[in-house]
Amino acid sequence: MHMSPTVPTNNVLHDRVILVTGAGEGIGKVAAKTLAAAGATVILLGRTLNKLEKVYDEIEAQGSTHAIILPLDLKGARPEDYQQVSALIEAQFGRLDGLLHNAAVLGGLSPIELQEVKKWYDIIQTNLHAPFLLTQALLPLLKKSADARILFTADTVGIKGQAYWGAYGVAKAGIINFMQILADELEAGTRIRVNAIIPPPTATRIRKQAYPAILHEALQDPSVYMKEYVYLLGPESKAVNGEIITIKETAK
Ligand SMILES: NC(=O)c1ccc[n+]([C@@H]2O[C@H](COP(=O)([O-])OP(=O)(O)OC[C@H]3O[C@@H](n4cnc5c(N)ncnc54)[C@H](OP(=O)(O)O)[C@@H]3O)[C@@H](O)[C@H]2O)c1
Repeated sequence: MHMSPTVPTNNVLHDRVILVTGAGEGIGKVAAKTLAAAGATVILLGRTLNKLEKVYDEIEAQGSTHAIILPLDLKGARPEDYQQVSALIEAQFGRLDGLLHNAAVLGGLSPIELQEVKKWYDIIQTNLHAPFLLTQALLPLLKKSADARILFTADTVGIKGQAYWGAYGVAKAGIINFMQILADELEAGTRIRVNAIIPPPTATRIRKQAYPAILHEALQDPSVYMKEYVYLLGPESKAVNGEIITIKETAK
């Protein structure tokens, strides 16, 4: 799959420090490279160091801004680990202007009757508890920004439950509700805007796990819809808060 982002030329994210979770692969990788190309300093958070290093090198090679690597396994991280993340960002930048919650695991599709309990806990931990813990730890730094964004990644199965999507679907429904709670709490009295994005079917590992038998080459490359990510993490979305933005699938 061709994954190189369309490089925005207008530097719209100049001077913004944006953290991307799950930046080592899939949509998060393309998002990190695109945000950097649009002028942001990107903090690459993920669990696999060598993947993050590769993205780091690719950002350097783009000749855009620098990136910073922050390895963290969201499944095992404890509240104190998130406090450490916050302290590191505070020491380096003194603020945070954007937080893209992108990392997630699918964990396989299965009927509820056969859902392994341990797997259920792990999926909810990574896909729902981790975004809560990371957001809570980083809110003081987002409040120090002149114009901050939090962008959650949702899914259509989180809007209407569908058979076999189990803990992944439940976590995505929770993410949407969590986004709305935060957007409502932060609307008055802060400069933080909070939204959710639903990417179209995209040929990544999650999609291949969910639909192993379909032809993934026909699916969208994330670079096609990256302008939506730049918009929702940038200055032009100042008036957008508490929205779920669904990106329509376009013909390839
Ligand atoms: N692809 C689609 O069609 C589609 C549709 C709707 C929504 N989405 C959403 O889009 C987002 C990105 O998914 P994707 O399709 O790009 O999937 P992906 O290719 O599987 O990428 C997921 C990323 O999350 C990271 N991650 C997973 N578990 C983690 C953990 N415990 N700690 C830290 N990082 C972890 C992975 O890190 P490693 O590389 O180290 O494994 C990887 O970088 C997800 O929120 C997904 O639900 C995708």
